[in-house]
Amino acid sequence: MSFLPYSWARPFLFSMDAEVAHEQTLAVLAKTQNTPLQCLYAQKRIEDPIQLAGLSFPNRVGLAAGLDKNAQCIDAFSAFGFGFIEVGTRLGFNNQGLDAFLHNVQKAKFRQQSQARPMLLGLNIGKNASTPIENAADDYLICLEGVYPHADYITVNISSPNTKNLRELQSDEALDALISQLSAKRAELAQRHHKQVPVFIKIAPDLDEAQISVIANTLKKHCTSDATASWGVIATNTTLAREAVSALPHSNEPGGLSGRPVFEKSNEVIRQLRHAMGPSFPLIGVGGVLSGEDAIAKIKAGADVVQIYTGLIYKGPALVTEAATAIQSLRA
Ligand SMILES: Cc1cc2nc3c(=O)[nH]c(=O)nc-3n(C[C@H](O)[C@H](O)[C@H](O)COP(=O)(O)O)c2cc1C
Repeated sequence: MSFLPYSWARPFLFSMDAEVAHEQTLAVLAKTQNTPLQCLYAQKRIEDPIQLAGLSFPNRVGLAAGLDKNAQCIDAFSAFGFGFIEVGTRLGFNNQGLDAFLHNVQKAKFRQQSQARPMLLGLNIGKNASTPIENAADDYLICLEGVYPHADYITVNISSPNTKNLRELQSDEALDALISQLSAKRAELAQRHHKQVPVFIKIAPDLDEAQISVIANTLKKHCTSDATASWGVIATNTTLAREAVSALPHSNEPGGLSGRPVFEKSNEVIRQLRHAMGPSFPLIGVGGVLSGEDAIAKIKAGADVVQIYTGLIYKGPALVTEAATAIQSLRA
């Protein structure tokens, strides 16, 4: 357990505006990481190694994208005991956004820690809100090139509900065209940097069976034609569905829902994809993991590893240990 119980900090954080609490927490983590004050939240990492997409994951619990969009707190989150951390989404164009992001990534010290199995870093990329959807691939290719040398894996976010029309990229022809272009660029980057970086496509929970099957078929096609490089899926992003909250006062506000309302929906997507893709396809499960039992349910649905975001806000760093321990117990 960390030195400062999260139950002390939580009432204070929850009394603030959510955005302010988020910013202030990240500011404190950024200031205290790699200092003696890191003991306030540092926890012993659970060792439960797994090989996935050609990578050696130290355990099966990761931080989901969006919490640390600017990659300012990689070392602090590493001290929580995560097996892998995903930062971003970073947006296209070689502007301050991508450059500042990469600067922060390079400042992180976690790779210098002498551990047998270092934590892994995922870099999550997206398109600019202002880029028309028909030119989206240009943004992804710029980002892919920028993040490639610094990433253990790359996530292509085509499922954020807040970027207009973004989810259209999950459809048949659009996805096929995007993956073809990413594939060609990745081959070029692999030669240039002498390393293969797996790419995960992050999808929405609001997909029906036919849409999931289109995604599976498209991925199968590219996995076969590009056997040297690894593809995977992260399922899922937040949900636009409102059934789970229809009785609540703010249910009609726009935006995606995370946490409990997305738990079963993401499990269903994971189940279908696992069935369609077979046992060796890399699949990261995310959505509503709020306890060790939830983490186990994600693995049982077919995920190889899980990520958390909302659970961390409600439960604090102890959830990382709880989830990693629960998943580890499945080996017994
Ligand atoms: C406030 C917020 C911001 C997010 N930002 C991103 C993002 O930038 N990129 C991304 O791929 N996912 C983003 N997500 C989605 C999460 O990574 C995760 O897929 C989703 O919240 C479900 O997991 P959870 O229930 O554990 O939160 C965001 C989620 C929330 C709640």
